[in-house]
Amino acid sequence: MSLLLGVNIDHVATLRQARYVTMPESPNAEPCPLQAALEARDGGADSITLHVRGDRRHIQEADAFVIREGVRLPLNLEMANTAPMVALAMRLRPEYVCLVPENRQEVTTEGGLDAAGQIDSLGPTIETLAAAGMKVSLFIDPDAEQVAAAATLGAPIVELHTGCFANAVGEAHRAELDRLVAAARLGQEHGLQVNAGHGINYQNITQLFYVPGLTEFNIGHTIVSRALAVGMTAAVREMKELMKRYPPKEA
Ligand code: PXP
Repeated sequence: MSLLLGVNIDHVATLRQARYVTMPESPNAEPCPLQAALEARDGGADSITLHVRGDRRHIQEADAFVIREGVRLPLNLEMANTAPMVALAMRLRPEYVCLVPENRQEVTTEGGLDAAGQIDSLGPTIETLAAAGMKVSLFIDPDAEQVAAAATLGAPIVELHTGCFANAVGEAHRAELDRLVAAARLGQEHGLQVNAGHGINYQNITQLFYVPGLTEFNIGHTIVSRALAVGMTAAVREMKELMKRYPPKEA
């Protein structure tokens, strides 16, 4: 099966909130996350990802429900493991829930979920969401301990955090790629679906093609940035075009 692309549209809402946070009902409020999701779909997105944060800094609950209703694509809700967010997921019923760590001070998600250290609190959440038909993924650092914890917890999917890879330079870059390769292999040995996301862009994506057996990339910032120049549909289409090279012939 070809590599899937989940398009994260949070930063469309970031721009809207920068101006309209105090005027959510304004008819002038723009840009529109629903419109962006529809255009991403037209460009070939396989799913739409959004992160409803505890502080609601970008995507609002209302956006999530409008997109759920208006876009015929699987929805991936990224969320922290808290009771209010589990309650939201139970109302929204996305196809996928990706559990992520959340820290009020961070600009964007920093580091993966400590699945190994939170077995007791993650277990009941995964069970509740799975029983309601949602597929749960854990956003984890590419470490053996975290992959094993995801398998122990019975989460069917892991999303490997590619942020360290994206930020590394020189030798460290190579080491981070090796970490991702090893974690992906281990995940597959455990029978997990292995996705990847965070910090992936039009330049570094081809190096990630050396990570074997990936199912999906979740990409946001670079696509929304590119959309400023060429529009969302073309930006997504360009990314999908690059992704056709996966897996590379020599891998
Ligand atoms: N995957 C997860 C779990 C995320 O939290 C994010 C956003 O921080 C992304 C993927 C997309 O990252 P980016 O916007 O850097 O492409």
